[in-house]
Amino acid sequence: MFKLNKKLLISISAATALSLGLSACMESAAPTQSAAPVKASIDGGVSYPVVDGKTGPYYVNTQFQGVKINNGRAPTHAEYEEWNSDIMPDGTGLPEGEGSVEEGEEIYEAQCVMCHGDFGSGGGGYPALSKGNAQELHESLTYQRIKPDTDGPVRVFGTYWPQASTLWWYIKDAMPHPLTDSLTDDEVYALVAYILNVNEMEIDGQEVDDEYVLNREKFLKIKMPNVDAFEPKIDGPNGPENVRKYFANPDNFGAQKVKPSERCMTNCQEPTAKVVYIQGAGISDFHPPLSAVRDLPVEKKETNFDAKKAYADNCAMCHDTGAAPAPGDKAGWSSILARGIDTVYKNGIEGTDTGMPPMGGSSLTKEQFKTVVDYIVNQSK
Ligand code: HEC
Ligand code: HEC
Repeated sequence: MFKLNKKLLISISAATALSLGLSACMESAAPTQSAAPVKASIDGGVSYPVVDGKTGPYYVNTQFQGVKINNGRAPTHAEYEEWNSDIMPDGTGLPEGEGSVEEGEEIYEAQCVMCHGDFGSGGGGYPALSKGNAQELHESLTYQRIKPDTDGPVRVFGTYWPQASTLWWYIKDAMPHPLTDSLTDDEVYALVAYILNVNEMEIDGQEVDDEYVLNREKFLKIKMPNVDAFEPKIDGPNGPENVRKYFANPDNFGAQKVKPSERCMTNCQEPTAKVVYIQGAGISDFHPPLSAVRDLPVEKKETNFDAKKAYADNCAMCHDTGAAPAPGDKAGWSSILARGIDTVYKNGIEGTDTGMPPMGGSSLTKEQFKTVVDYIVNQSK
């Protein structure tokens, strides 16, 4: 079985989201790995190591099984738990540590510049980490709220993100791609300091200049230029309530023409809301974006679902090879079935730490999955 590896899981998630064709991650990312794996070119430019025919142990979206990318299985629940870390704007989860702009620049030059460009300018499909002086009003979202006909800020960290905690967390957990989770806390502080520096930002009125040393205490004083410019305000203890209120008022996104009290996806009337805005600037005639048609995909009607074939396609590679109990293995199944069939369904759907991937790593629906379980169980009683 694959062993738990948080790094690899995250590196895939980062790259998959970008759809750069980079979805493969490096099985041999850890430099200590000795066996030289085969390499395959996946996106034409970059070669990725292939181990056991797979470019990585996990895939993230079970519906996506890329043609050229042969990723492994879906992570188990236990693996997700291990991976699931948060660093919150109020400092929850943020460790102590310290790093200077100078150190940050050094690490950046060694580990980040090849993708994110000089001074975070971006390039080659990789996101920019800075665009101009984020502290300048006219480069912020706030300014666009005041002058709705301007282009609005470039959506990069300094000019757009409402919270700095996301930056810390993201670098620690997902960067540098694909050697995720390899930086120490101090190194992350240094990199964050450097990124604040190239975004020409201030902390508590003090410019983050070349000499600046960042630590946890100072980090928590960062006020991102746009923190108050989002509507509804999603942060803080009232965040969820604000979001609910906002969307409870159809004026905020265009109501149905026929039933003005209902939310609307198509055939909407113009929203009538006048959004009064922050920092004393009242905005009139501000039109939130009208809703777009977003019909849900038509539900596929499953005809003649073949449990035996689904078993052969999705489960046999483990359940027929001795890795897991096979259909008909009464002894093997009796202890499992003793849990009660509902628990067995649930364990199968969510995965177990004894090696059963969620849904067997298949892209079957839950109903189909249960049918396959029934198929196995009926032979094993
Ligand atoms: C091999 C290329 C590569 C390297 C090296 C790399 N990154 Fe990234 N970085 C990416 C990709 C790809 C994304 C976008 C991932 C996504 O959106 O899913 C990204 C996203 C980010 C983001 C989020 C940007 C945004 O606006 O969404 C930050 C911050 C970041 N990287 C910081 C760093 C830092 C700091 C380093 C060095 C320690 C680093 N990266 C090294 C490829 C790289
Ligand atoms: C990657 C290998 C693998 C695949 C693929 C796989 N299984 Fe499993 N499965 C296991 C292992 C390992 C166990 C745990 C056996 C044990 O606990 O002794 C298991 C356990 C189960 C269990 C028992 C859950 C419980 O209550 O503990 C069910 C049900 C099950 N698998 C159904 C399926 C079905 C249906 C499929 C295909 C859709 C499938 N498995 C595909 C490896 C796999």
